[in-house]
Amino acid sequence: MSYQIALSFEDGITRFVTANAYETVADAAYKSRINIPFDCRDGACGTCKAFCESGKYDGGDYIDEALTEDEAEKGFCLPCQMVPESDLVLQISGTSEMAKAGATTFEATITELSWFADNTAALTLAVDNRPDLKFLPGQYMNFAVPGTDTARSYSFSSGPSASELRFLIRTAPDGAMTTYLKERAAVGDTLPLTGPMGSFFLRDIKRPLLMLAGGTGIAPLLSMLEAIADGGEPVSAHPIHLIYGVTFDKDLVELDKLEHYASVIDTFTFDYCVADQESTAGNKGYVTQYIQSEHLNDGDVDAYLCGPPAMVDAVRKYWDAQGIAPTNFYYERFAVGSAASATAKAAA
Ligand code: FES
Repeated sequence: MSYQIALSFEDGITRFVTANAYETVADAAYKSRINIPFDCRDGACGTCKAFCESGKYDGGDYIDEALTEDEAEKGFCLPCQMVPESDLVLQISGTSEMAKAGATTFEATITELSWFADNTAALTLAVDNRPDLKFLPGQYMNFAVPGTDTARSYSFSSGPSASELRFLIRTAPDGAMTTYLKERAAVGDTLPLTGPMGSFFLRDIKRPLLMLAGGTGIAPLLSMLEAIADGGEPVSAHPIHLIYGVTFDKDLVELDKLEHYASVIDTFTFDYCVADQESTAGNKGYVTQYIQSEHLNDGDVDAYLCGPPAMVDAVRKYWDAQGIAPTNFYYERFAVGSAASATAKAAA
């Protein structure tokens, strides 16, 4: 029996290591030449203290000075002592550079390039060493745009177990990736991808989920839904509701995938809305107009949002106006054509 441990560093880079039965996280990381912070290795100093985002483990032996009961209850842990009892996701104090664990670059090949409208591309890629490219649903990769010295970041819309990788790319006027996709890209081209990156990923589902997506911000949420549908960890008995907002009808993509997830995940429902008042959609306006009180569950809900900065601000104002704060609010802001998306977690 072995388990996958995702080590998520403060600079947004995630590395995966494998722990065998009865092996501590520290030993598994060491075996993979990843230097997460250590000192005593004996549960006495607390130097290795990390935060467990998801999974089960035996915390091992340690003294209160290294980890208090209160900290342990909140999810803090000591990698030098803990032994995994399932796959784990750990937030490690420090950067990947400090741990000599920089992101990995993969050579990907375009296997399909299709367009939903003239403004959103679906890019499917294959990598030779696919099993080595592990990622958490919700994370993204940095793309080196061929023929330029520019990088762009895109979230996976496919799940972690899919054999090929899929990304949704919104075009931007004169954008480096837009120009490449529209003028030069062809099946068979190779693209260097670096990652995985980001702290916007699906945690253990311990309460109802409210997912909010703006435009191509639907991509990481599709990846999460695929992971849930695959029945891997984490699985859910809790309601999951997604509200997807776009500006114009032509911006609506992957509704068939959402229908599919609604048919295979018993607890999943979704709605969508279009801001344009000329839209033919039943729901016009913005996502906050379609959040119902049952979706908020009196605040006992984990909210996941991926969308433009204005949407993040609007939703925050909405929580304030309602006087309800989700137990956890995980969000990722993106700007079309930007080189990197900011990711943050807020425990509201
Ligand atoms: Fe000292 Fe883990 S290294 S408690």
